[in-house]
Amino acid sequence: MNILILGGGGREHSLAWAVMQNPKCDKLIVAPGNAGIAQIAECASLDAEDGGAVVTFAEENAIDFVIVGPEAPLAAGVADRLRAAGILVFGPSEAAARLEASKSFTKEVCDAAQAPTAGYGHFTDAQAAKDYVRSNGAPIVVKADGLAAGKGVIVAMDEATALAAIDDMFGGAFGGAGAEVVIEEFMEGEEASLFVLCDGEEILSIGTAQDHKRVGEGDTGPNTGGMGAYSPAPVLSPEIEARAMEEIVKPTMRVMAERGTPYQGVLYVGLMIKDGQPRLVEYNVRFGDPECQVLMMRLGAQALDLMQAAAEGRLKEAQVNWADDHAITVVMAAAGYPGSYAKGTEIKGLAALPEDSMNMVFHAGTKASADKILANGGRVLNVTARGQNLREARDRAYAMVDQIDWPEGFVRRDIGWRAL
Ligand code: AMP
Ligand code: GLY
Repeated sequence: MNILILGGGGREHSLAWAVMQNPKCDKLIVAPGNAGIAQIAECASLDAEDGGAVVTFAEENAIDFVIVGPEAPLAAGVADRLRAAGILVFGPSEAAARLEASKSFTKEVCDAAQAPTAGYGHFTDAQAAKDYVRSNGAPIVVKADGLAAGKGVIVAMDEATALAAIDDMFGGAFGGAGAEVVIEEFMEGEEASLFVLCDGEEILSIGTAQDHKRVGEGDTGPNTGGMGAYSPAPVLSPEIEARAMEEIVKPTMRVMAERGTPYQGVLYVGLMIKDGQPRLVEYNVRFGDPECQVLMMRLGAQALDLMQAAAEGRLKEAQVNWADDHAITVVMAAAGYPGSYAKGTEIKGLAALPEDSMNMVFHAGTKASADKILANGGRVLNVTARGQNLREARDRAYAMVDQIDWPEGFVRRDIGWRAL
């Protein structure tokens, strides 16, 4: 089977790593890929959001199966174009990708599905939005409706912050994404994510994870794309997972099918858990980054079989073979991230590290230059390890971190603390 993965971050490196272990994979191309991915697969430059270009590329390279990593190509309808061309693809249609691309759409679907989530209002003008904030009071959460690269959510602990966020959003701070605004009840509890494969009808859980969004130790400081993650998430007990599947995921999938837009791909179910009750925070229509890295570490080669079964509508006969294991990933970021940071600093010591089913350094933002690996982004490496328990996995991951010679990089030393 010839496979094309769209994307070029740590998530796609881990997908490529898992896919390459499956003997079914004859050839793997990742577009655009990165320096780490180039060590295990062919990389190609291709505009992943241009459906026509992706179809042409897939045809010219005799691709049998396309796996879409990030949300932007999905929201741009790339999966629809591939399906129309008769090419097997893992990832939802543009219409189903609205579960991530529009917060108000997701809220409507939750209403129809009677899925537990935060109460909300949906606004197209600032005045009505502000009245809603004034009558509900803080804390309250203000969200740009559209895709805003993870930055369109303001958790306002006081009213003034919420009102300022409304002005920013309608003032164009998030471009078109902020032309409509959703304002939500603030939910308390512990956050965790559930990852579910869907084939339009059937659903299959493939694991749970928790990430650390804040840059600083003890979960302090500014928000980031994620500084580390671990799987499984102990807070998502089998009982709570079953409730989330029954009360949230299944009814949502039923509503999507009834609307004529069945969902196929992976669904990232962001949950807030309090007193044993899960409530939906958000859906994403892709794997999380860096949550994917820990899931792939645990699933290995079977990840390809599972994604293929979802794409072919065969999830009913699929099952996950679980090892009773734990995985963790520690993000190495460039000093200054999530603010401004330097690119092009050299990372040494990677070649000496183990690369096996227990230890992997996935590249998130790197570039090769001659025989050197250079940092080429904010989040640069995902140092990932597996163990019989979380402590063992964590100790392995930090032992690798300590062997990496990159003075311009930093990590959080406390990834996994909640679970440990
Ligand atoms: P989202 O992009 O919707 O996941 O929001 C980003 C982050 O904001 C989430 O991971 C939560 O930590 C927080 N958040 C979003 N919505 C709420 C809510 N209704 N109550 C509390 N926190 C929230
Ligand atoms: N790590 C959070 C996300 O991928 O959205």
